[in-house]
Amino acid sequence: MKKNKVLVVHGPNLHLLGRREKQIYGNLSLEELNRELAEIAKKYNLELEIVQLNGEGEIVERITRGDYDFLIINPAAYTHTSVAIRDAILGVEKPTIEVHISNIYKREPFRRTSLISDVVWGVISGLGKYSYILALEVAYKSITDSLPRQNCEENKK
Ligand code: DQA
Repeated sequence: MKKNKVLVVHGPNLHLLGRREKQIYGNLSLEELNRELAEIAKKYNLELEIVQLNGEGEIVERITRGDYDFLIINPAAYTHTSVAIRDAILGVEKPTIEVHISNIYKREPFRRTSLISDVVWGVISGLGKYSYILALEVAYKSITDSLPRQNCEENKK
């Protein structure tokens, strides 16, 4: 039987996790985080592809390929600026969760605006690695229990 596929997109500068602004983003490296996600995916028999992309256009291209059942994305700095990533998410209509390691609503004012949040199913912000882990758990639940994912329909309004 074909496995359901979850795509995880880490946006710009997230390759620096564990080295970058540790007081905000913690000590865990991207490799360690990805390894934890891979273990969970294995447990749930999900196919998992994880990419880290620094370029906005590269992120748009990866999202719009549409070869996955569920998208988990940390758009990082593009969260606050990218109409192109917003439009890509709208364009493919895949259930999507936006995640952030830090709580973007607790930081500088320019981080409190997300151009992504109102076109995705849900947002998890501020829980460190658990933002991703919870998103993956929810992706699994939503695929297996057919949870209603209002995001796609609502996006069309
Ligand atoms: C981030 C928050 C963004 O504001 C920032 O630009 C990032 C990471 C987070 O995961 O907390 O690079 O998305």
